[in-house]
Amino acid sequence: MVGGVDDERWLREFREEAVRRGKRVEPDWGVGAELDPVVVRSVQKFQVGEDGDGANLIEKAGGGAYGEAVRLFVKEEQNHARMLGKLLAAAGAGTVASHWSDEVFVRLRRALGLHLELMVLMIAEVVALGYYRVLRDGAGDPLTAVVAGRILADERRHVPFHMDRLAGVLSGVGLAAWRVLFLAVVLVVAVDHGAALRALGVTRVGFVREVVAEFTAATRRRGVTVREAASSSA
Ligand SMILES: [Fe+2]
Ligand SMILES: [Fe+2]
Repeated sequence: MVGGVDDERWLREFREEAVRRGKRVEPDWGVGAELDPVVVRSVQKFQVGEDGDGANLIEKAGGGAYGEAVRLFVKEEQNHARMLGKLLAAAGAGTVASHWSDEVFVRLRRALGLHLELMVLMIAEVVALGYYRVLRDGAGDPLTAVVAGRILADERRHVPFHMDRLAGVLSGVGLAAWRVLFLAVVLVVAVDHGAALRALGVTRVGFVREVVAEFTAATRRRGVTVREAASSSA
């Protein structure tokens, strides 16, 4: 659907969240974080993925309520990168400049039109739902739990925001191809981050199952509530 009630509603939600974020007390970075080195390396890769100016997406989104909502969405992603950078610093680690998987993702997205870009972006958003849930519940570190929990709450809004834009344009073939691409990406992430996932208490297979369930729920446009309960076992 192009324009209309949903865009206005989403813009209102993103604006309200920006106000809430402005009032929210920052996590207590001074307490430090204790993270397994394999988890640090994994978080560094996700930090790079969150970090980007989103100029390309903003340009494609155009003006109006949707364009403004996308601008606020990009700011939330930049805030994720900022918080993950501070979390890494609290754990005594730095950020990394770039990672091959991020480069591939950015190049792919740039080459696409808005709807296809959103479909690729949605893959990252749904993977993020699983990843930050696992990080929140499995790191065994209070500061990490706060940061991952805050990011997860944003990602839970991002997924339906993108789905609303895609709802009218998805065909059977497009959906099938999207699922295949999604599964391929999830498998690559599960292998690439396998050691970190293990340290966070989930198996690769458990992680793949969780994000596939999230994807199914998102594309069926049900509420995504898979494994919302805190649990670090798998
Ligand atoms: Fe994010
Ligand atoms: Fe997001």
